[in-house]
Amino acid sequence: MDEGPLLSPTAGRLTMEVIRVEGLGKRFFIGGVQTKFRTARDAISDAFVAPFKRAASLLRGHATGAAELHETMWAFRNISFSVNQGEVVGLVGKNGAGKTTMLKVLSRITEPTEGSIEIRGRVGSLLEVGTGFHPELSGRENVFLNGAILGMRRTEIAAKFDEIIDFAEIGKFIDTPVKHYSSGMYVRLAFAVAAHLEPEILIVDEVLSVGDAAFQRKCLGKMGDVANSGRTVLFVSHNMAAVTQLCTRALLLENGSVAMDGAPHEVVSDYLARGVENQAEWQNPAPDTEAEVEVVAVRVKDAQDVLQPVINFKDPFQIEIEYEVREANRGISIAFQIVDSQGVVIWTSEDTDTPDVRDRMIMEPGTYVSTCHVPQGVLRPGRYFVNTGAHIRGVRIITGHQQVLAFDISSVGFNMPPGRQGVLAPKLDWDFRALEDRARVPQPQV
Ligand SMILES: Nc1ncnc2c1ncn2[C@@H]1O[C@H](COP(=O)(O)OP(=O)(O)OP(=O)(O)O)[C@@H](O)[C@H]1O
Ligand SMILES: [Mg+2]
Repeated sequence: MDEGPLLSPTAGRLTMEVIRVEGLGKRFFIGGVQTKFRTARDAISDAFVAPFKRAASLLRGHATGAAELHETMWAFRNISFSVNQGEVVGLVGKNGAGKTTMLKVLSRITEPTEGSIEIRGRVGSLLEVGTGFHPELSGRENVFLNGAILGMRRTEIAAKFDEIIDFAEIGKFIDTPVKHYSSGMYVRLAFAVAAHLEPEILIVDEVLSVGDAAFQRKCLGKMGDVANSGRTVLFVSHNMAAVTQLCTRALLLENGSVAMDGAPHEVVSDYLARGVENQAEWQNPAPDTEAEVEVVAVRVKDAQDVLQPVINFKDPFQIEIEYEVREANRGISIAFQIVDSQGVVIWTSEDTDTPDVRDRMIMEPGTYVSTCHVPQGVLRPGRYFVNTGAHIRGVRIITGHQQVLAFDISSVGFNMPPGRQGVLAPKLDWDFRALEDRARVPQPQV
C-alpha cells in the first residue's frame, strides 16, 4: 500500500488504520468443484460432507446432478469494518459462521467475491495446520521460507531463529522434514514462526486447540506480548475466556454479517447468552452395556432445576449425573470434573464426598441420579467442560467420559476487575484490625 497511512483523530491522538474492509463478501460453490485456492483440508472435508449434502437436498426434494453444481452460498456478505494499529480483535461466532473464511480472505489466501480490503503492514498468519509450511522442507528451512515470505532479510530471521526453536520446543527435530512432525509439533512451530517473525499484523485462527494446555497458555501469553508491543492481532477463538482476557475488541459474526462489534466482555456475554456453542445435556450415545456401572446422561441445571447451558456468575447451579447400576455393589462412587477452557482440571468431585452418600447401603441394579450442588460465585466467567465417570472406591475405575458437555459461566454478577488474576474467583471474608494504638507508635525523633 503506498497511499500513506490513514490518520484519524481519536480521543485527541492520532490512530492509524491498518485494516479496512468494505462491502466484503465471499461466495462458495457448494456441491460443485471450486478449484482455485482450495486447501487439502477443504478437499478432505468436502469429500465427507458432500454425500450428506446431496442426500439432504434429495430429501428436501431438490434435483440433483448438474444443476446442483452451481448452487452457491455466501459465507458472509456486505461486511465493513476497520481495525486500528495495536488493537487486538477477537472474532467469535458459532461453527460455520465464516470466521476462518474471513481470516483467509484477509490473509489473501482466498480471494473475496466482492468488496475491497486494504491492509498496511506485514501480515503473519496462522490459519490451519498446513498453511504456510512446505511438507518436504525441514523445520529450519520452513522458518527461513516463512520469514522470506514476510519480506524479512536472512540475517533478521537468523537473529530470531533460536528464540523460535526454543519457543516451539522442537529440539532435535529442527532438521527433520515437517511432514514427519506430529500435529502438536507442527502447530508449535507454525505459531512460533507466525508470532516471532515480527509481523505488523498477526492473524491466528483457533489452531491453539491442538496444543496441550501449557503450550496454549504460552501462545496466549505470546499474543499478549505481540499486542503490547503495539502490533495488531486478529484472533479467532471459541475460547471466550481467552477473548475477554486478550482482546481489546470483539466482533461477532452471525448469519454472514457482523452482529456485534464492541468491548469483548459485552460481545462475549451477549453471544453466550444466545445459548450457542454449549449444551446443557449430554446423553451417552454408546453406553457400555458390559460395565457394572455406566453413566447415561449428564445435565447442567440452574437452581430451579431447569436445563441451562449458561449459568450466571451470581447463581448457584447443579451438575446432575444419571447412571445405571447393573451389578449390585456398595462401593460405587460417581464423579465429575470441571475443566476450564485451557484444559486445567479445576476440581474433581465425588458423590461419596458427602457422608450420607458414602454410607449408602448396597445399590441394587437400576437407574440412579446423583446431583452436585455448586455454590454461586466460584467459577469465574468462561467456558467449562465436564468429565464424568464412576469407580469402586479404592478398587477400580469402571467408566470415564471426557468433555461430555460444555457450559458457560456468564459475567452477570461478576464485579471484580477483569484483570484480576486467578482460576477461581471466590469472594472470601476478610476483616482487619489495627495492630496497636496509633498514639503508641513511636514518632521519629527530630
Ligand atoms: N472451500 C469451501 N467450499 C464451500 N463451502 C465452504 C468452503 N469453506 C467454507 N465453506 C462454508 O462457508 C461457511 C463458513 O465456513 P468457515 O470455515 O469460515 O466457518 P468458521 O466460522 O470458521 O467455523 P468453525 O467455527 O467451525 O471453524 C460454512 O458454511 C462452510 O461450510
Ligand atoms: Mg474455522
